[in-house]
Amino acid sequence: MRGKRATEPCLPYIGAYIRSLGNQYHPETNKDGVICLCVAENKLSENEVKELFEPTTGDYESPGFVKSDLYYYNDNKGMINFKAKMCRLLKSSLKLAQDVSPENICCSVGTGVILENLALNLCDHGDGILIPSPYYPAFDNDLSVRAGCDIFSCPMAYEAPYKSAAKTFVLSQNSLEYGLQHAISRGAIPKLLVLTNPNNPTGTAYSRETILMVLNFAYERQLHVISDEIYARTVYDDAPGLASFVSALTVVDEDGTDALKAWAENFMHIVYGFSKDFCVSGFRIGVLHSKNQALNQALDNVSYFSCIPSIMQDYLMKGLFAKPDKCVEDYTAVNNAKIRTSALALYSILDELHLEYVRANSGIFVFVNFSSLLDAQTVDAEKRLHTVLYEKCRVLFTPGYSCHGPPGWMRVCFAWVPLKHLKVAFENIKQYMAAREAST
Ligand SMILES: Cc1ncc(COP(=O)(O)O)c(C=O)c1O
Repeated sequence: MRGKRATEPCLPYIGAYIRSLGNQYHPETNKDGVICLCVAENKLSENEVKELFEPTTGDYESPGFVKSDLYYYNDNKGMINFKAKMCRLLKSSLKLAQDVSPENICCSVGTGVILENLALNLCDHGDGILIPSPYYPAFDNDLSVRAGCDIFSCPMAYEAPYKSAAKTFVLSQNSLEYGLQHAISRGAIPKLLVLTNPNNPTGTAYSRETILMVLNFAYERQLHVISDEIYARTVYDDAPGLASFVSALTVVDEDGTDALKAWAENFMHIVYGFSKDFCVSGFRIGVLHSKNQALNQALDNVSYFSCIPSIMQDYLMKGLFAKPDKCVEDYTAVNNAKIRTSALALYSILDELHLEYVRANSGIFVFVNFSSLLDAQTVDAEKRLHTVLYEKCRVLFTPGYSCHGPPGWMRVCFAWVPLKHLKVAFENIKQYMAAREAST
């Protein structure tokens, strides 16, 4: 029974994506290939990433590690010197004022497994998890395939947050209350609320006030909160009206009441990883920050199943972690400048095509409204359009229904390809739109 759920694909578009990997567009060698814009990976900075991680020494021993340590079992949450370096990086990535204590972190093979570990250890099978929607499509699988939790969307309203502002997805207490009541009406015990900040797929960060509202909502109902801050460094623009990133840890420290601070000690968990800000999803590096002692004790046990291999920790110790902090900051500035160039170009293309989108300033995607191309405002119609865009335009987006967004919205992961390929993708779509217009 337990394995049966895992026989379903982890994402509805994964099959098309895997097929496309062997048939990718190339301007000279494969003009009819597919332009994949459905996976949140950034390939714009490969040279800089390589340089950042390149070991500073060819010697197999790294500072603090004895060579033979690498052959044997170790602290499953991370080797001692590795954790110290990770604490330092976490502090700078999340822009924290306070130091991070190694006691409170657990390093694992990616944030996906950390999310699953949190669901497994904080919830029981069938418990409810609230997530503001639209949300990152893999949360459904991460939190349910083995942990067996039920997810309840908290739909954010698509509206202008204040007069004269552009429309965006706005998170309110009403959204959270909707998800909570839905969970209760289905007989699920609401245990956990997941906030993704900056948000995937909208590419926007939440304001301090919104984060505080979410934390107070959870505190009043004694829900656990996971703040997934995996895009913390990827804020590429300071466009007016858009919030910059602030960690939930900072909000509690600076704006929380004593009661909220006390609650956060046990109920607030922050996740971070290297897949996005450092563009190395293949390295499988994630880190959890939590002060919940019982949880940390449980992770002493079950981290055995998800520890980062010593050889990878050693690689980071010799490369990234052996370099001055300035290298990370310089890399971040260059990487964000590249993301910004692609994002701004995409906004211009979308404006030209009269396609609505959420103006983002973070992450590596733009959430675009293709509903004007639907033959009906339904999920089925969106699926049909997604197939047409894939088969006729040779472009693969993340379908919006997998993000639990309104019909017709799709996530465009623009950093997966160079800008010139992105332009080809939208040229194909422009031609499709023109042909469609001509035939109606
Ligand atoms: C919000 C969010 N959380 C977690 C993950 C998974 O990251 P990892 O590769 O560290 O498992 C992703 C990847 O797209 C993500 O966007």
